[in-house]
Amino acid sequence: MTRSSASGKIILFGEHAVVYGRPALAVPVTQVHVDVDVSDSSRPGIWIEAPDVNLYAELNTLPSDHPVASVLHNFLFLSRVSPFPSLEIKITSTIPVASGLGSGAAVTVALTRALAAHLDHSMPDEEVNAFTYEIEKLHHGTPSGIDNTVITYAKPVYFVKDQSVEMFKVGQAFTLVIADTGISAPTKESVGDVRRLWMNDRARWESVFDRIGDISLTARRAIEAGKPELLGELMNENHALLQTLTVSSPELDGLVQAARTAGAPGAKLSGGGRGGNMIALVEPEMAETVSLALQEAGARSTIITQISCNGLRRYCRIWQ
Ligand code: PMV
Repeated sequence: MTRSSASGKIILFGEHAVVYGRPALAVPVTQVHVDVDVSDSSRPGIWIEAPDVNLYAELNTLPSDHPVASVLHNFLFLSRVSPFPSLEIKITSTIPVASGLGSGAAVTVALTRALAAHLDHSMPDEEVNAFTYEIEKLHHGTPSGIDNTVITYAKPVYFVKDQSVEMFKVGQAFTLVIADTGISAPTKESVGDVRRLWMNDRARWESVFDRIGDISLTARRAIEAGKPELLGELMNENHALLQTLTVSSPELDGLVQAARTAGAPGAKLSGGGRGGNMIALVEPEMAETVSLALQEAGARSTIITQISCNGLRRYCRIWQ
């Protein structure tokens, strides 16, 4: 049996503007993950078991655009492994679906790596990342590529679409509370709505994207300089800009407000918006209090996570 795992992720700053070429920051969230086990099967076919989504099927009985089927079909095509052996594939996940924690990209990364390892098909990170991006495009229209990148490399990234990915140093660890609205909101829809706004008044929205990009850059500098206390205000401003882009919701705004009232110096929605998750910056000793306040304000679940350096090399450039 071969096992591979991939963590969830959260966008700290820059969602939506990143689709229009502005920088965004994202970090892995190791508390949630996808695990994939691949083993040889005694029955013919490729059998998939994913109990979290109630999926028990042979590959050929699934529609070809099914998220798991599309990974398998594309991997078979790419790897040219022939004849393809009979396999049992088990996928389990603790990442909530369609909530901004990167569940789709994490399934693709873990499944691709497990298949590649089991079938002795060499697949360096760059290829896993590019392959996952292609799969993301099938399901999300025009993704920026930030999800597949942070999940493939499992490190904090400063991401500029089609230009560069830089891992950055975390000068001083800081703590976030992540809260799930429990509302599943397809990113494709909010991205499409932002595109319609932008098409109707490009000058106005380009200046909003510019400001969000500036916030991402300022936030990166604060994180590298070991001054996470500067992030709170930047989060609040980023959230207000996302509200003008119409991608917040009463539930997200309610949780953001509850976190601030409970003592978080900053909070914002994270990811595509409308539902999914929000994040709050907290002092470590306030994490439990803010987490509880978020649950009382209606969060379905909360995660307390610490963003730390992990000995990253400064300005380690992956590709450009
Ligand atoms: O909903 P998520 O976490 O997959 O994030 C989407 C982020 C967007 O910037 C809205 C879209 C994208 O592809 O970057």
